[in-house]
Amino acid sequence: MPHNPVLFDVLKDRLRQAPQGKITFAEFMDLALYDPVGGYYATQVAAVGPQGDFVTSPHLSRDFGELLTVQLVELWHYLGQPEPFTLVEMGAGQGIMADDVLAYLQSQFQDCFAVLDYKIVEKSPVLRHIQRKRLEPWANRVTWCDWADLAADSVTGCCFSNELVDALPVHQVILTETGLQEIYVTLDEDSSTLKDVIGPLSTPRLGEYFERVGVDWAKGYPLGYRTEAHLAALDWIATVTDVLHRGYLLTIDYGYPAERYYNPHRTQGTLQCYYQHAHHNDPYRYLGHQDITAHVNFTALERQGEQCGLTILGLTQQAMFLMALGLGDRLMDLAKIQSTDPAIVNQAIQRRDQIHQLMNPMGLGNFWVLLQGKNLTPEIATQPICGFTIPPLG
Ligand SMILES: C[S@@+](CC[C@H](N)C(=O)[O-])C[C@H]1O[C@@H](n2cnc3c(N)ncnc32)[C@H](O)[C@@H]1O
Repeated sequence: MPHNPVLFDVLKDRLRQAPQGKITFAEFMDLALYDPVGGYYATQVAAVGPQGDFVTSPHLSRDFGELLTVQLVELWHYLGQPEPFTLVEMGAGQGIMADDVLAYLQSQFQDCFAVLDYKIVEKSPVLRHIQRKRLEPWANRVTWCDWADLAADSVTGCCFSNELVDALPVHQVILTETGLQEIYVTLDEDSSTLKDVIGPLSTPRLGEYFERVGVDWAKGYPLGYRTEAHLAALDWIATVTDVLHRGYLLTIDYGYPAERYYNPHRTQGTLQCYYQHAHHNDPYRYLGHQDITAHVNFTALERQGEQCGLTILGLTQQAMFLMALGLGDRLMDLAKIQSTDPAIVNQAIQRRDQIHQLMNPMGLGNFWVLLQGKNLTPEIATQPICGFTIPPLG
């Protein structure tokens, strides 16, 4: 698969203008994924889903969005049933989760639905367009906005995302004889592809980042150790906290706490590229045709949240989260189906398989779910939250 020529031209232009012909890996990743003309999320609109490069939980089964709705309604009650109750979905992909949440709210929780204000913050103009089409039946309930449109302290409710943070650009660093350095991206000699080049850190924030999550480079890290820093995720937490007046931030994604993320044995970091359900770690292949992601550093989200005024309310794994919210009951209901109609039996088998995938401890079930809160009274902040009542496996 050749590079997308439009994106490659954008990158070459950017590199020719850049000092010393190099840009940070974070800048490269941002362009490769989100350039409005050639970026992966501008052109590969069917990339998420069974026919695409990877599958996310909402694409597997509506059970995911429906159980998430149960959690959101509980949070609405804890907040004292505010009117409006604002939900801000960040990075909504093809709009499937929004569709499931809205439909379930309307059919099962009319009182909450009646006061709902559903906002979507989506970076990709093409995906926004797809979301608008899918969510046409909810046109009077959903609005799209950029962060700049949302005033400080304007949201009472919950900001939430599934697999957004792993899609935010990361900086890459490498441990060398002269200390921690950064990986930059440059053109190779004949300008036919891209390659790494090592240089000094582009910002002191990188050093501060590792200090804050407890990494001591003097302790057992081998030369050549390479990993990622999630500065864009820190900026994102700051933005969300600023907009949130009172309520919650719920983040679902794959990743690790810092101690496991920055284990000295994980010498090549977590960068992964997805192309047609296969993955590898060469970000300069198939430019514009493949997704590029990095695992989320959940400790960084927690620490940054605390610094910005968020309290940690819960951290668990997706399997535990969904089980606590009723996924087990749904499985039992499926087992009770008695029919001789092959279509019904087949449907039940398929749904059982999808539910198992949502809980798979080697896959989606191992994702982390983090709940943070802002401006909650001590009584509210100490309420048991349904999705977090089963502890994680560790
Ligand atoms: C991996 S997809 C996940 C989509 C969807 N949440 C799902 O579970 O299927 C990442 C989504 O985040 C969006 N995105 C990435 N960076 C963003 C940002 N800074 N603000 C808003 N959306 C962003 C992408 O365009 C895409 O819709």
